[in-house]
Amino acid sequence: MALSTMYTYRSTQFLTHLRNPLLRIAIDYNCRQCSTNSYKKGVVIGVYVDDEGKNIKLTPSAEKINQESNNVIVKALKIGNGFLKKGKSRLFYNANNKYGTIALVGIGKEEIDSNNLDDGVDVKKQNIRDATAIGSRSLMDCGIYDIDVSEMGDSESAAEGAILGTWKFQEYKKKQDPTPKISLFENSEKNEWFCGVAKSTAQNWSRKLAESAANYMTPTLFSNEVQEVLGKQGVNVVVHDKQWAEEKKMGGLLNVAKGSNEPLAFLEINYSGGCKNQKPIVLVGKGVTFDSGGISIKPSLSMGEMRADMMGAANVVAAISAIAELKVPINVIGLTPLCENLPSSNALKPGDVIVAMNGKSIQVDNTDAEGRLILADALCYAATFEPKVTLDLATLTGAMMVAIGGAATGVFSKTDNVWNDVKSAGYYTGDRMWRFPLWSYYSNLIKGYTGFDLDNIGKGKGGGACTAAAFLKEFAPPGEWVHMDIAGVMKTDGKDSPYISSGMSGKPTRALVQLILDISKKTE
Ligand code: BES
Ligand code: MN
Ligand code: ZN
Repeated sequence: MALSTMYTYRSTQFLTHLRNPLLRIAIDYNCRQCSTNSYKKGVVIGVYVDDEGKNIKLTPSAEKINQESNNVIVKALKIGNGFLKKGKSRLFYNANNKYGTIALVGIGKEEIDSNNLDDGVDVKKQNIRDATAIGSRSLMDCGIYDIDVSEMGDSESAAEGAILGTWKFQEYKKKQDPTPKISLFENSEKNEWFCGVAKSTAQNWSRKLAESAANYMTPTLFSNEVQEVLGKQGVNVVVHDKQWAEEKKMGGLLNVAKGSNEPLAFLEINYSGGCKNQKPIVLVGKGVTFDSGGISIKPSLSMGEMRADMMGAANVVAAISAIAELKVPINVIGLTPLCENLPSSNALKPGDVIVAMNGKSIQVDNTDAEGRLILADALCYAATFEPKVTLDLATLTGAMMVAIGGAATGVFSKTDNVWNDVKSAGYYTGDRMWRFPLWSYYSNLIKGYTGFDLDNIGKGKGGGACTAAAFLKEFAPPGEWVHMDIAGVMKTDGKDSPYISSGMSGKPTRALVQLILDISKKTE
């Protein structure tokens, strides 16, 4: 093929993404001039700016690109009177030999006194995530899917912003947009970048699992996908069935699942990166692939969101995939009870009494408080591994949203020790954590009945997240135990952080990975 024809072909293909005729000419010109595909490549670079969008300072990568590009960035900023607001981007076309398009983003202030700014997260890292997300998206809007991202002083956060920020759920679309190729600009700080890639790719998997329609994400389909993904990584996944649950006398899981025709599943995942005699961390995740409420049926408004009632399970499998990717020297067991909660003639009825794996009897006053029933059995089973720490994650109570909205994961911990680790992992990753109480006040509300041991909703008013946690405490293995109620952070409207678009958030997958990394460093 003649060179000119080849370029015409390539540019027409590329130009379909562009609406502005002036830009078409610029890019066409560029690709005829150089002999590479550089016009299809974009780069994201950042500048530090103050709160007013002034006092601009170029990062080292921005400086380098500026020099290679005939000073175009500095010149352009001068035209705007040295003005570029934090979180805003500007595009430069045809200025650089290597990159057809440069996306320049305002990161925010270079020096941030995080101690003085108690926002529950590391603001500097958040700013970098926001910047690379915004820059990468603005390139994608121009049809550029081959994107190099500058590290902006923290290549882990830069990777996270770009990978989380460009992700979209388009599984069921006939015509899908391409997935961008995100690379690190000039291979600086490669290890941190790789860590950010692993964490954010895991979170995107968790988002995908949670966002999936319930008819495409039944307990069986969830198990298949986990076996495929983790299996390829060399992680051992065993899918237990109803018969196994019967042998274990898992009355909670069996009774919730029996209202649906979809068979239940219980995943037992074993990642052994540590020594043989090292006690494992056990992660337990609520996996209700659809929660209609059962006979205590939910109102139909927003009921479809309950397809994400398995996000605890999604976080567990996703975190393990990142741990395996990063080859963390630690032993981790993942346990996910999976089922649907539906009304039918076989379903659990309000007032029914069931018996959990540890022999405690439970009156089911409300079939919509099903998460705690299936987790009760999973926690009993967790004890058989004699865990170093047991951590469960569950979209457990709507009360979380009432208490603190979508700002943070609600954390319940018996000790300050693990809580401090959880808190700092949340601060580091931007997945905020907030501690709630595990007082006997709440335990007393679910106990003290004459005819059975526990009631699944209790007799109190308010504090629903705390009552649910108190219920789980009755089944938690001895030793360190942490419960995370992730109902509040399940879904985001996309406004709280620019790097996570609206939809099921997959939070706090990265905090979970960070926590395990931190624990593994302490164990070394
Ligand atoms: N899966 C829900 C909790 C939930 C609600 C998660 C909204 C995410 C968004 C859980 O199974 C549930 O229904 N909980 C009940 C408990 C109540 C019956 C004590 C609730 O929160 O209303
Ligand atoms: Mn429910
Ligand atoms: Zn539920």
